[in-house]
Amino acid sequence: MIPKIPLGFAIHVALLTTASLSPIASNAGPLHDAALNGETERLADLIDGGAAVDEPDSMGTPFYLALFAQQLEAAGFLLESGANPNAVGALGSTVLLAVLAGDPELLRLILIAGGDPNQIEGPMPLITAAAQGRSDLVDVLLAHSAKIDAVDGSQRTALHRAAEKGDLDTIARLLEAGADPLALTDIGKPPIHYAALHGHSDVVNLLKRAGWKPRPVENIESLIETASATQGKAEYDGICLRCHPIERDRYYIGPEMAGSFGRPIGGIDDFSYSPVMAAAEGQWDIDSLNQFIAQPMEFLPGTTMDTPGIAEPKRRADIVAYLASISN
Ligand code: HEC
Repeated sequence: MIPKIPLGFAIHVALLTTASLSPIASNAGPLHDAALNGETERLADLIDGGAAVDEPDSMGTPFYLALFAQQLEAAGFLLESGANPNAVGALGSTVLLAVLAGDPELLRLILIAGGDPNQIEGPMPLITAAAQGRSDLVDVLLAHSAKIDAVDGSQRTALHRAAEKGDLDTIARLLEAGADPLALTDIGKPPIHYAALHGHSDVVNLLKRAGWKPRPVENIESLIETASATQGKAEYDGICLRCHPIERDRYYIGPEMAGSFGRPIGGIDDFSYSPVMAAAEGQWDIDSLNQFIAQPMEFLPGTTMDTPGIAEPKRRADIVAYLASISN
């Protein structure tokens, strides 16, 4: 959950900045002031006296400002008084602000009043609620038609973020509502990768029971005969070398690759592997290398080699031929 103080501070800074830049904001109407300060009685007086409930200023409507400042009682009052539930402002939609405020009841009221949980202003509320492990907020959003498969800029779904956070309830709710355990981010990370990376073994098991498995990888046995180690070296130099030295000479992100073919997985004693690679069984051969290079985070969810896979079998065969040639 986003703590109250930093958000309040952000508002303060935002208001100060806006006030110095914009004469409109510095002259914000009394309704806006009352909303920001959570003065519900004053709001009632002003509205009774004829003030327009949705009077805009450069920061947003009074309702938006009350939510922004986490003046939840005032926000509830303005909503009851007919405020537009879909007002938007600097931080995103009102539905998102209610999620950030962490108040399921207010969230529900906004949605009942017609607030759109899928309005694309700022982060998607369902994804934010899932990232915070707030199954109560997730429930309310799902009950009001939040899209289960909405994605963020990296193609992460709510399930990806919930798996990262590790809250079992939230994950169970999302799965029940039809979240796809096989969904992949822009660089091929399934939700289970985040669960494994953050050590949530209960979530790893839940996602497996929910049907997660790696997509099948096309076999390269038949391509190996004719694969080109020279071409593979060019691929290696272009993609892998920046992280993997051939022989160890200085610090690199990844382990050295001379001798990798035929070596046990995670088999260099003094390299600090991820827990999942350190615990993996088996050795690097044509088949395991092919699968790992094709989709690293599906072959071994939780690996810290979080690079996109290589889709073309021929390119993978060339790379494997090159790795074999430097391991003899
Ligand atoms: C962004 C850096 C990066 C890139 C690019 C990268 N790797 Fe890795 N690689 C790593 C890291 C980090 C590990 C250790 C992963 C772990 O511990 O989970 C690793 C592990 C490996 C391993 C396992 C080694 C062992 O000792 O068990 C192999 C094999 C491998 N990479 C092959 C490749 C190949 C082939 C490429 C190019 C197609 C490549 N990597 C590209 C970072 C990278």
